[in-house]
Amino acid sequence: MDLALRLGRRCAGLTAENPAVGCVIAHNISGRVEIVGRGWTQEGGRPHAERVALAEAGPLAREATAYVTLEPCSHTGKSSPCADALIEAGIARVVCAHPDPDRRVAGRGFEKLRSAGIAVDVGLMQERAHRDLGGFLSRTVRYRPWLQAKMAFSPDGMIGIEGQGNYPVTGALAKSRTYALRAQADAILVGCDTVLIDNPALTVRLPGLEARSPVRVVLDSKGRMPLETILVQTAENTPVWIVTTEQMPRDKANALKEKGCDILRVDATPEGHVNLKLALEAMAERGINTVFAECGAKLADEMLKAGLVDEFFLYQGAEQIGPNGLVALDGSPEKALFSAGFILEENCNMGQDKLKRFVRPQSLDALYGD
Ligand SMILES: NC(=O)c1ccc[n+]([C@@H]2O[C@H](COP(=O)([O-])OP(=O)(O)OC[C@H]3O[C@@H](n4cnc5c(N)ncnc54)[C@H](OP(=O)(O)O)[C@@H]3O)[C@@H](O)[C@H]2O)c1
Repeated sequence: MDLALRLGRRCAGLTAENPAVGCVIAHNISGRVEIVGRGWTQEGGRPHAERVALAEAGPLAREATAYVTLEPCSHTGKSSPCADALIEAGIARVVCAHPDPDRRVAGRGFEKLRSAGIAVDVGLMQERAHRDLGGFLSRTVRYRPWLQAKMAFSPDGMIGIEGQGNYPVTGALAKSRTYALRAQADAILVGCDTVLIDNPALTVRLPGLEARSPVRVVLDSKGRMPLETILVQTAENTPVWIVTTEQMPRDKANALKEKGCDILRVDATPEGHVNLKLALEAMAERGINTVFAECGAKLADEMLKAGLVDEFFLYQGAEQIGPNGLVALDGSPEKALFSAGFILEENCNMGQDKLKRFVRPQSLDALYGD
């Protein structure tokens, strides 16, 4: 199951709206257990992991055990059910880490396997699967994506310099880790002011992973996004969605569409900003499981206040910024996170910098559904 989970992680960020699942088929050959098939969900969400592993195993799947990270599907969607494929291949036992809360499956996958005489065990390494499949579970159970937020702070609580974009709060290692996190998400999210000030590309710039840049989403309530930004200019290559409100003029929306951007309109808050919960729901409707938000001060504040952040990546740079600094979360991010109910889960050094990863246990509990 450990291997199946690791295989599932390979395709994180590539399978939306489907989950990134892993599968291992092990056969007892003359008293020796051998792995005869490995599979993970393929780009775009299919074929599913079980089918890839079964194809590799071929006739050796007969009487073998399949380890799979999520309950095999039992409904006919764009492909026929994986439960049927496991039965047809003659699998003797299925060990599964996590049940699928999708109403079309929800226990029916296991039922189908058991009715065909297959032994089924559920729950092996479930906690890890729960984390790894968090995006899919969140969209299925809460109708919104798993929301990761990332911010880099200087030791004096600043995220940049007032009026100066792209201030390097942290070094190269931290940047690489951010690229990797971008690659594993289904969408990157920023507030409009970060685009206006930094003009970022928001792509994955790691050797070999350039093609894994996910969709880039900007919250722009009034249509302030200039057509000359890198994001708009590259929208034909890497998708850009702009979540806006009725306040964006039609001609601006048309000009952005002509450049290849997609426009999603949602209701505004009483203050005239994009309603964040509706924005996330609109993204979930389009199949987005996991969102990686690179927060400026205002976006971080609003997201935390609304209780929408599930996981927080807090980078801490080594150098003070001083009096011209841009303060965020009152200059005390950890205090803000602890009072919002987060716990510290990971704490590591990245060269001179530190990365602390926080999670909200309530968010994880909510993914179990009713
Ligand atoms: N160190 C870091 O980790 C890091 C990361 C990112 C950015 N930054 C820095 O942060 C600065 C920008 O931050 P910022 O605080 O000025 O802006 P921001 O958080 O990037 O963007 C805020 C803007 O997003 C739009 N927005 C739409 N709906 C919103 C909502 N519900 N809640 C909040 N905002 C919403 C608003 O403009 P409309 O109302 O017009 O839509 C708002 O003015 C830049 O200097 C950048 O370099 C630092």
